[in-house]
Amino acid sequence: MTWTERQREMLQAMGLRVWTAPVVEAVPVVAEPSPAPPPTAASPKPSPSATRPAPAPATNRGAEAPTEPPPARSADLEGRASRIATLDWSALREEAVQCRACGLCESRKQVVFGTGHPNARWMIVGEAPGEQEDLQGEPFVGASGQLLDNMLRALGLTRAADGDGPDSQRVYIANTLKCRPPRNRNPEPAEMLQCEPFLMRQIELIRPRLILAMGRFAVQALLRSSEPVGKLRGKVHRYQGVPLVVTYHPAYLLRNLPDKARAWDDLCLAASVAEGDGPHVAPR
Ligand code: URA
Repeated sequence: MTWTERQREMLQAMGLRVWTAPVVEAVPVVAEPSPAPPPTAASPKPSPSATRPAPAPATNRGAEAPTEPPPARSADLEGRASRIATLDWSALREEAVQCRACGLCESRKQVVFGTGHPNARWMIVGEAPGEQEDLQGEPFVGASGQLLDNMLRALGLTRAADGDGPDSQRVYIANTLKCRPPRNRNPEPAEMLQCEPFLMRQIELIRPRLILAMGRFAVQALLRSSEPVGKLRGKVHRYQGVPLVVTYHPAYLLRNLPDKARAWDDLCLAASVAEGDGPHVAPR
């Protein structure tokens, strides 16, 4: 990748060094995780705790400590997931907008389905909407969204769904949860389980060349891993055959500036994979 003067200035303003492309072939590709365990548990009900005061502090968004693995899927949940897996884009959006599968529907203002172009080459997956996202109905529009947008801009990428840019510059952004947890508390395992069929289907329909999983909840949903982000970053993983790069959540980066340079390295790794046309890329 070559940098324009403007991009170099932007990187400097963010305190990031200019990147030169790594050799993609040298990147270790990590095997796909084994599929989710077979259904055994009782069907998760709408979580009453979604509407009561959260024990976690409101500023916890993007924390990178390991998490509990999600509970096993019930037969009900499997049936719902199978049905969602057949929906086209507009039916999927409608299903999400009408969703009342967990208690978050009681407190949300809007369902935050996602934003970007459905032919995007990049798919970026975050955690859950915050206050601004809940109000505006779009992911990453608050402070962490500004950092994300700056980093994307430095790579020549855009979340804009319209305009004439090529697909290679387009990004689709979605969250693991489509509704805001009250007071930005962490997603609960049952909420993640109910919501993940939406994300799975979004990925299936978009068929991105590259998934960027930001933060531990995205990692947990897509890689079924509770390893810390710091251990999983720096490699190319796979989700359903699609190369996946793990990085820190922007909200975490806002509180941990030294890791910004590492996040930038992750984005550069992701860019080298998304730009490549090797056998790791699923046919579009
Ligand atoms: N953090 C997220 O993970 N997603 C958003 O949409 C906003 C903040």
